[in-house]
Parts: sequence; C-alpha cells; structure tokens
Amino acid sequence: MSPYSAPTAPRPPLRVALAGIGVVGGGVVRLLEANRELIARRAGRPIEIVALSARDRHKDRGIDLGRYRWEDDMDALVAADDVDVVVEMIGGADGPALTLARHTLGAGKALVTANKAMIAHHGLDLARIAEEKDTPLKYEAAVAGGIPVIKAIREGASANEIARVYGILNGTCNYILTQMERNGASFADALAAAQAEGYAEADPTFDVDGIDAAHKLSILAALCFGTRLDIDAVTADGIRGLIAADIREAEALGHRVRLIGMAERDAGGLYQHVQPCLVPADHPLAYVPGALNAVVAEGNFVGRLFFEGAGAGAGPTASAIVADIIDIARDEYGPAFAMPVDALDAAPVADAGARIGKHYVRLIVEDRIGVLAEIAAAMRDAGVSIESLIQRGSEDGSGVVIVLVTHEGPAKTIDTALGILAASDHVVGTPMHMPILAL
Ligand SMILES: NC(=O)c1ccc[n+]([C@@H]2O[C@H](COP(=O)([O-])OP(=O)(O)OC[C@H]3O[C@@H](n4cnc5c(N)ncnc54)[C@H](OP(=O)(O)O)[C@@H]3O)[C@@H](O)[C@H]2O)c1
Repeated sequence: MSPYSAPTAPRPPLRVALAGIGVVGGGVVRLLEANRELIARRAGRPIEIVALSARDRHKDRGIDLGRYRWEDDMDALVAADDVDVVVEMIGGADGPALTLARHTLGAGKALVTANKAMIAHHGLDLARIAEEKDTPLKYEAAVAGGIPVIKAIREGASANEIARVYGILNGTCNYILTQMERNGASFADALAAAQAEGYAEADPTFDVDGIDAAHKLSILAALCFGTRLDIDAVTADGIRGLIAADIREAEALGHRVRLIGMAERDAGGLYQHVQPCLVPADHPLAYVPGALNAVVAEGNFVGRLFFEGAGAGAGPTASAIVADIIDIARDEYGPAFAMPVDALDAAPVADAGARIGKHYVRLIVEDRIGVLAEIAAAMRDAGVSIESLIQRGSEDGSGVVIVLVTHEGPAKTIDTALGILAASDHVVGTPMHMPILAL
C-alpha cells in the first residue's frame, strides 16, 4: 500500500500506558486529550491512553484520571494484552524505571522515555534489546525537553559528518546565570530565585553540578558521531564556583557566561565536557535567556544548525513524548542511535588538557605588594601566556579581584598554574577558570 493512500480499513488505535504521572506524565495526559483529533489525523490512527501507573493512586494530580485504568504494579502495564506502548516518565537511571524499560522492550513492546539518566547509563543495553525484539525505543524528551533535536540530528542531518555538537543543556543553570547577569545576584541568591520559581529542585546537585547536562551531552555525542554512548567519559564542572564578579568581568570582556556541554570528535579522540564558558556576546548561545535550552550541531555539508526552545516543563516535554508516540503509530522507527549498536564506534577519550584555547582566570587575592608578581611567575612557570590582566579594588574588604585573559594555549597549563598558586598564602578561596569559546 502506498503511504499516500487512505487505509482501506481504519487502522486500530495505538494503545498507550503511562508510567509516572508527575509533571511530565500529567502533561502527556493533557496533550493527548487536548489535541486528540489532530493527533489521530496526523498519526493515521487514534492514540488512546489505556492504563496508568504511579506510586500513589489517590494523589490529587489536578486532572480527571477516573476514565483510565490504574495499575499499582507497573509490570501489569507490560503484561496487559491491550498495551502497545509503555511511556516511562518516572525518572532515575536505575530502579523501577530501568526495570520497566527492560521488561517493556523485552516483551517486544514499544518504549518511549523522557529519562536522560537512564538513557545515558543504559541506552546501549536498551537499544540492543529493542533491536533484538524489533521494537521502537524513543527518547526525544530526554535531550533538551521540547526541542526536537534528536529527530533533527537522527533524520534531518543524517547525511552529514558532524564534528562538533554543543549547547546549553540545562535550563536551571541558564536561569541562574541569566539572573546573575540581569540583577548582579550572587550564585546563592540566583539559585534561591530559581527554586522559588520552580526551576530548581530543593537539592539542585544534578543541575548545578552539570550532571544533568552531562547525561544529555553523552546522548547527543553518540547520535552525532556514531560512537558508543559512554557517560563515564563525560567530565562535568558545574556553576557553583561562579561569583557575581565573573559575570560582570565576562561582560566587560564582551562575553556572557553559559554552562556549555561540548562534544567534539577528531583524530585525537572524543572530547565530552560540561563546564561554564565565556561565550562571545554575538554568538547565538549568548542570547539564550532564562530556562531555555539550545543546541548547536555543525555538519560538514549543512553547516551550523542552531536549535532553541524550552528544555523542560510539562507542555514542551509532553510535546516531545507525544511526537515519539505518533512516530510509533505511523510505524516510523529505526535504531535508537541512528545505526545498530554494533555499528557504533568505541572512540578513544581525547586528552582534554591538550585542547588549545584562550582562558579566563579569576583569582581573589590579598591586597599586598608582590602578589601580582607571584601570579605572573606561576603563569610563566606553567607556560601560560597572559594577554591581559585586570585588577579590581575590593568592594567589601574580602580581597582584590584579579582577572587574566590568556593567549591561546593548552588547557592543562592553566591547571598547572593554579596548582602552583594553590600553595600561595595570598590567594583567597578557589580560583575560577573558564575557556573562552571561539566558534
Ligand atoms: N520535569 C521536566 O520538565 C522534565 C523534562 C525532560 C525530561 N524529564 C524527565 O521525565 C521524567 C519524569 O520527570 P517529572 O518531572 O515528571 O518527575 P515527577 O514530577 O517527580 O514525577 C515522577 C512520577 O513517577 C512516579 N514514581 C516515582 N517513583 C516511583 C516508583 N518507585 N514507582 C512508581 N512510580 C514512581 C511518581 O509517582 P507519584 O506521583 O505517585 O509520587 C510520579 O508520578 C524524569 O526522567 C525526568 O528526568 C523531566
């Protein structure tokens, strides 16, 4: 039958079970209900929720769920004859989410998940089960929430060799950084504002220490480079070490501070690192405000692609999940990482210290004669060449802020210099250093 022809008999509904009815699960219920007719026309068949499961059946979720069957035991969703697709929206790399995912795929049913931690840690195993069982594994919502970047790279840019993928992969950090930028707030105050607005969890570790962004970066890297997903090869430095002066000084230098996940593949191997960076004020990433996410992928024929949108929230995340469900309804699926697991390469880990670039270095020092000479000597001994140095008088008597911009050089020389200065009695607190993006 041609894909253009109307089916001779209406196709049966695609029957979906939802596991986890929190922020994301609630959004999926609302979206499937609100756009039901349009989705059925686009999918070529109705999409029906047939069963739900979460921890507490009696919790008020602000939606009428009375018409759907409730299962306390999530495995009942897998076992049910009337379920074609299980949508996992529980969270956590392991535990019940992983058990459900394995059982679903193992039973030959389609799995849709929003769970970046689980895909980052177990994506290859899950993809292998999906291949063995010839069943879909879809995870659009796991990377950059509502931005359809998985589909764009997996399908739209699939003819390209991609050498680099990078971006703002955590909306909580971007919200905090833009608060610091706009209000001159400290990290602690900006984090408190993010928590008050619901952008940050009470325990913000996963977000502010770059772990969440690392999960997403590892998935993007596998997809872009055709490499085996390896979360252990991703290094992450978060944004806790930033102070208000860093944001001000970056601006004075014509830059903005962004938490950037960067993956690059070259002859030296695969580099995957999440860290705060100085982004030139005219780079598209510098304009990404608040809790938005953005991803840049550079293909050898298409050039630079830039995707921006909401990286989280009930509506955007549900949009990505339901798009995956629609693909399944149309029988459109293929290998989860764009090629079979056995075709993915195991790329060596690149030497991050050998990466060449300019760096921003900020120190707080005691206001004493000879301190600048000590810093200059440490830089010289480590092989760091200084392009410019700014000294700002202390505002509150807590020390003098020294900001250096280096000439291009290997990143490891900065670590060496800061290692030497760590022994100094005149350096107060922990220095901050960030690469300056030149892309
Ligand atoms: N929130 C976002 O904007 C966003 C964006 C992209 C991706 N994601 C991903 O989407 C997933 C869900 O996130 P969320 O924000 O919706 O989380 P959430 O609001 O905390 O909801 C989690 C749901 O899972 C259920 N659950 C938790 N532990 C369970 C267990 N042991 N057994 C059965 N059910 C359990 C909870 O049940 P109860 O309600 O009964 O407690 C709740 O319904 C995560 O993987 C997250 O990383 C979230």
